[in-house]
Formats: sequence, C-alpha cells, structure tokens
Amino acid sequence: MTQSSRFPIAHLIKDRRTVKRFKKDPVSTELLCELLNVAVWAPNHGLREPWRFMLFIDEGKQVLGEAIVQSAMKKRDPQMYIDIPAHLLVVINEDSRQREWEEDYAAASTLVQNFQLAAWERGLGCVWKTEPFTFTPQFRKAVGVRPGEKLVALLHIGYPDKIPAARPRTQAEDKLTVIRSSDLTEALYSDVQFSVKS
Ligand SMILES: Cc1cc2nc3c(=O)[nH]c(=O)nc-3n(C[C@H](O)[C@H](O)[C@H](O)COP(=O)(O)O)c2cc1C
Repeated sequence: MTQSSRFPIAHLIKDRRTVKRFKKDPVSTELLCELLNVAVWAPNHGLREPWRFMLFIDEGKQVLGEAIVQSAMKKRDPQMYIDIPAHLLVVINEDSRQREWEEDYAAASTLVQNFQLAAWERGLGCVWKTEPFTFTPQFRKAVGVRPGEKLVALLHIGYPDKIPAARPRTQAEDKLTVIRSSDLTEALYSDVQFSVKS
C-alpha cells in the first residue's frame, strides 16, 4: 500500500471539479512533474506509453496565448492565458491501426483524468479543453504538435479562484441493463427498470 491519501478515491473522484478561474499563484514545475509521474501509471495496452507532454509556463505562456488568439474563432485576449499559471498539452502518436489508435487515445484519456485527480488532491484545479481551435493546423503548428500526432488534451492548470458547484449525474442504474436470464432479448427489450435508490 502506498501512503494514504487525504481523500479516499471515491470522494476524490466526486469532489474534483473542472476549474476555469485560477489564482495567479505560481505552480511549481516540480509539482507538475510529480503529478505527471503519478498520471503515467495509467493503464495502456502493450505498455506503449503513447503519450508525450508539453508544458507552457513563464514566457512559454505567451506562445500558447498567441496561438489561441490566432486560431480561435472568437476574439480572445492573450493576457487571459498568460495569467493562468500553467498549460499542459497531452499528445499521442496516431497509430494507423484502428484498434491501437483507440487503445492509445483511451489510455491517454485515463492519464489525463489521473492527472486531474492527482492535481485536485494537491489543491490544484484543471480544465480539459477541446475547443475547436485545438483542432486547427494553425494552432497545432504554433504550439509544436507534430504531424502524425493527436492532441488529446489542452489543460489549463492553477490553484482554483472559484470552484463551480457540482452538476448532478444520472444514477448509473438508470443506464444499466442487467442480464440475468439466458434470454438476451428479454433483457434488452424488457420495460422493467433496475433501480436502486441510495
Ligand atoms: C474530453 C473532454 C473535453 C472537454 N472539453 C472542454 C472544453 O473544451 N471546454 C470546457 O469548458 N470544458 C471542457 N471539458 C470539461 C467538461 O465540460 C466538464 O468535465 C463537465 O462540465 C463536468 O464538470 P466537472 O468536470 O466539474 O464534473 C471537457 C471534458 C472532457 C472529458
């Protein structure tokens, strides 16, 4: 067993929120590397570890801010991005085989969530961005995403200035089909809802 956490995992998962307003307090590169080194324990098939990372801090934030301003549809102020303590890009190699592509994208997504949870445990907030500009050749080139790579996540990172209220989730039971009989048709088309109230 590793060192016990301030949060049990279920609490941590539910407590984490997407944060969009950050304090200007700096976030140390050491801490961000520590969090990445937790995140890389994500499951990944064949241990391909398909990811690489780019961290924009200090003057580097100007590069990211300018790239967003140049590629976003709506007018943006680069200062907005310079004021955020850090920006992280997670990219993967695009495997030409569909199965491997999907496995690698799924693995990188679990890595991103690992990172968000580890960050939250340390008092940091993140927002995972997939805005349309992140798909543009202009943005990709300006931030150094190479041809043949997929940008999985742009994360803005910092200590939360405001933590939004949680938006409730649908109970899993409402989306759950339980197959108890050998007749699958009966299970799939049954009107009977499995429901457990907590
Ligand atoms: C793949 C992915 C892409 C997302 N892209 C955006 C985005 O472009 N802009 C944004 O504001 N939030 C984005 N989010 C964050 C979601 O909006 C957020 O998770 C959702 O509102 C639920 O809030 P919570 O994370 O606080 O539970 C993204 C989340 C995921 C998993």
